[in-house]
Amino acid sequence: ASPVRQAILDGYAKEAGVAAFSAERGKAFFEASHAGGKPETPSCTTCHGMDPRMPGRTRAGKAIEPMAVSANPKRFTDSAFVEKWFKRNCDSVLGRPCSAAEKGDLIAYLSSL
Ligand code: HEM
Repeated sequence: ASPVRQAILDGYAKEAGVAAFSAERGKAFFEASHAGGKPETPSCTTCHGMDPRMPGRTRAGKAIEPMAVSANPKRFTDSAFVEKWFKRNCDSVLGRPCSAAEKGDLIAYLSSL
């Protein structure tokens, strides 16, 4: 496991006030259709796809590297990059920032595959 990824998770755990994250909740969050964001991006899977071990696709059709750590070990190893994309994508999909609990659960899911 990457020490930086672990430090990012520890930071979210502290912020959320939880001892452990749930890969199961992370999966449900990743796959859900959310309200509140842009109508053309209702879900994380709109761009990242249903199987995080496979590449995704931007709205413009550009490939996105897989989100699963097993398929793409660089995932969640640069906290500024992680925060930049959570901010942007949570705003598009949810119309609000993701909570620390949502971020931690998501990384737990994408690290579990
Ligand atoms: C990257 C989360 C939805 C397009 C990322 C990253 C995170 C993330 C954490 C950076 C990962 C890393 O550290 O490498 C999410 C979540 C979503 C969501 C939680 C749903 C709430 C979307 C949607 C789109 C999108 C709908 C397209 C409109 C991208 C792109 C990147 C990215 C283009 C950067 C390229 C890359 O890292 O390969 N996303 N995302 N995401 N996401 Fe999403």
